[in-house]
Amino acid sequence: MSGLQNPFRPTFGRTPPELIDRNDTLEEFEYGLRIRSGVLGLLSIITGARGVGKTVMLNEAQGLAQEQGWAVISETSTAGFLARIADSALLIDEELGDGPPPRKILAFSAAGFGVTTQLPRERQVEFRNLGAKLLHRLDENGTGLLITLDEIQDADRSELLQLAAVIQHWVRDGLPISFVCAGLPAAISDILNEGVATFLRRADKIDLHSVEVRDVRDSYARQFSAAGIRFPDGFLEEAAEASFGYPFLIQLIGYFLWKEAERGGGAVDRESADKAVAAALKRNIRMVVGPAISKASDRDMDYLRAMSRDNGPSSTAAVAQRMKASLQLAANYRARLIEAGLIEPAGRGEVRYSIPGLREHLRNGERLG
Ligand SMILES: Nc1ncnc2c1ncn2[C@@H]1O[C@H](COP(=O)(O)OP(=O)(O)OP(=O)(O)O)[C@@H](O)[C@H]1O
Ligand SMILES: [Mg+2]
Repeated sequence: MSGLQNPFRPTFGRTPPELIDRNDTLEEFEYGLRIRSGVLGLLSIITGARGVGKTVMLNEAQGLAQEQGWAVISETSTAGFLARIADSALLIDEELGDGPPPRKILAFSAAGFGVTTQLPRERQVEFRNLGAKLLHRLDENGTGLLITLDEIQDADRSELLQLAAVIQHWVRDGLPISFVCAGLPAAISDILNEGVATFLRRADKIDLHSVEVRDVRDSYARQFSAAGIRFPDGFLEEAAEASFGYPFLIQLIGYFLWKEAERGGGAVDRESADKAVAAALKRNIRMVVGPAISKASDRDMDYLRAMSRDNGPSSTAAVAQRMKASLQLAANYRARLIEAGLIEPAGRGEVRYSIPGLREHLRNGERLG
């Protein structure tokens, strides 16, 4: 095999070697960047289960914006994000200096500054005005400003409200601002039902799902054959199926297969290949499934366990019966679990797990691998 390094990235927030199946979404955003204001894609909310690729999409958006010369501020929703965003805007403005703004890449990630205060009233106005000034300068230059905010399910609601109000103001003035945020589905439903709404409700909602298994197989085939790695006939098909198209598992399986190939000098036999997949599935339990259910209440867990008897989607009526709950009560657990990104609707009156491995984990008595 070639001396290529293992390209797979089974790490949250790390861009994968091949970003499967996300082109259309990114294309819409990139198109928006060219028009720069008042169009689709510039204001977007990305949601989806854990490990489905939300943070990676934010990274991609940042990359595309930078390529087009946009300034970028990327933040995560820990306390004080609004103040950090305001500080970053100030830094960018300073960086541009007095002369005509240079057309160059400006990226600031203020994460780690450790500001824990909210923005006082006068600084909010200052931020709005300063931001508008910055946006006018960027506008003259044919670019704009992208702000990304990750993990919005954890965002302090009043900070988010303030940020939304400021951005809304800039949008109304036709300034070149793009705001793309990401979080668990819970974020959407609460936030959109609160005051932040009118503005964010108009944002594009991008609900990320697992990708097509066929595309996973093709991606594996491309990457492994480029490195001269060979598997038994039909194996990559099975490996792709084992991933369920779930992005984190795609990376885990690819990673362990690659490691196995390195050990075997490029050819992987049936036994080692199966072992690699098993190792990946086990790691998925520890890294994704365990943490995902750690916050579920006892009753939520009862609901999840009641589902585990089925091999495919579960009927919500059957689940209610199994857990001896009224339909009404079961519907509440169902809604909570959907918001937490643990299960999702699967057609009329049915639900299924959103995270692969969850069923097997529950069936195995919930031992962490
Ligand atoms: N389209 C894709 N194709 C292949 N792999 C992907 C894709 N999107 C993401 N990944 C991989 O999936 C893993 C999870 O991605 P990411 O961290 O973006 O998920 P997330 O939705 O932000 O998760 P969390 O909710 O825990 O923050 C990473 O290892 C990443 O490399
Ligand atoms: Mg993430």
